[in-house]
Amino acid sequence: MPGRPPDHQRPHRALIAMEAPLTTEGTTMADTQKTATLTLDGQTYDLPVYSPTAGPDVLDIRKLYGQANVFTYDPGFTSTAACESAITFIDGGEGVLLHRGYTIGDLAEKSHFLEVCYLLLYGELPTAAEMEKFETTVTHHTMVHEQMLKFFTGFRRDAHPMAIMVGVVGAMSAFYHDSIDISDAHQREVATIRLIAKMPTIAAMAYKYTIGQPFVYPRNNLDYASNFLNMCFSVPAEDYEVNPILSRAMDRIFTLHADHEQNASTSTVRLASSSGANPFACIAAGIACLWGPAHGGANQACLEMLREIGSVDRIPEFIARAKDKNDPFRLMGFGHRVYKNFDPRATVMKQSADEVLELLGVENNPTLQVAKELEKQALADPYFAEKKLFPNVDFYSGIILEAMGFPTSMFTPIFALSRTVGWISQWKEQIEDPGMKIGRPRQLYTGATERPYVNVEDR
Ligand code: SDX
Repeated sequence: MPGRPPDHQRPHRALIAMEAPLTTEGTTMADTQKTATLTLDGQTYDLPVYSPTAGPDVLDIRKLYGQANVFTYDPGFTSTAACESAITFIDGGEGVLLHRGYTIGDLAEKSHFLEVCYLLLYGELPTAAEMEKFETTVTHHTMVHEQMLKFFTGFRRDAHPMAIMVGVVGAMSAFYHDSIDISDAHQREVATIRLIAKMPTIAAMAYKYTIGQPFVYPRNNLDYASNFLNMCFSVPAEDYEVNPILSRAMDRIFTLHADHEQNASTSTVRLASSSGANPFACIAAGIACLWGPAHGGANQACLEMLREIGSVDRIPEFIARAKDKNDPFRLMGFGHRVYKNFDPRATVMKQSADEVLELLGVENNPTLQVAKELEKQALADPYFAEKKLFPNVDFYSGIILEAMGFPTSMFTPIFALSRTVGWISQWKEQIEDPGMKIGRPRQLYTGATERPYVNVEDR
């Protein structure tokens, strides 16, 4: 396996045993109940074990290097808890996703995106009065500084909207100086509201710029999702009526993408914020990371794959390619680091795709037919069952977004718009943790050891 140390450099045998309870300093939110004992080269080391409110116990290895002069090794963080959090919980085996204890199914059916934003940020569902105040505040921050419009003209018209969003969101710190001091709780709150409020405006502006249409300003008489659709699809030449079916579907897509534990882009935001970087820079880093096709870019890649497959009779060819070790092709929208049963968001998204396309009278959409048949054949194939590969959140989202009129290039910007609340909620939680330290992983070094410089004439 790449990066694996040669056998002769493999560490000596190390044993970990779970032992009797031992009180040590716990973390702020988890309880210490027992210890694990590591035996290495004849020495034993006690590692505190914390039991969370849900999920696996964790071994606290913070003192291990100082005590045993060894690092743990976990590229990709498959077995590493990088932080303590109370925002979102995923049970990959059971296909469970909770936001502050509420299931994604309940929230998608009974709540709405701005209420989910409040829940993620403040930990509880709002009262009617709290919701009205929050919604009014967000609504009145949806415009961007007029001078930011000049940023867009610097991009080529064929720029990818994600490239524009990374640039413009990072540049927000050049405009909103009164909300970049992370030590000031009020400034943190202002930055939080500004980001949630302005991301739809920036995403819509990126779209309008790439299609050569004039920007459409937000309207305070529209709800969050309707405002976004209006900014994307209305034109000055005629009145535009937001379709309530599409607005409800858009709002549900926002909710399904809002937060997802310590995924790659959220971990990027946390690592960036651990250095004290301002919130706009941290969210721009998250947008950059989300863009990758293995992460948030998968919704665009999935729809392009479904289009390439084109018809159900070509599905076996693509399934064979996905199973071929010598072929880098993967089924986009399939598989997940955590979900090994099913992605509950994909379940809701599939239902929504059926509803929206039927209501729009395009239920026979060929892409949807290919997607459903591909899911059916893949799930019946032992390869996908053995590797626990199921449709993820990105498998059906693109079909709905395409039916709504969005080009594939807008799929990931919509994911970024939705995930901004998750990123900023996790950013807020980390900044407010008095124990926050700068993130600085170590490494397994397998490069050259010290050697003398050789002059060019002697090489
Ligand atoms: C998102 O982390 C999150 O929470 C992310 C996200 C969020 O809300 O933030 O849920 C959003 O990013 C969803 C995932 C979107 N990405 C894709 O759909 C791209 C396609 N899927 C993959 O590339 C892959 O499944 C990952 C990246 C999602 C997960 O990769 P892992 O956990 O590192 O798994 P792996 O690459 O080690 O794969 C395990 C095995 C491998 O085979 P072996 O080497 O063991 O023989 O499964 C195979 C892989 O080859 N495999 C696939 C596959 N995904 C994994 N084979 C074919 N098609 C696939 N899609």
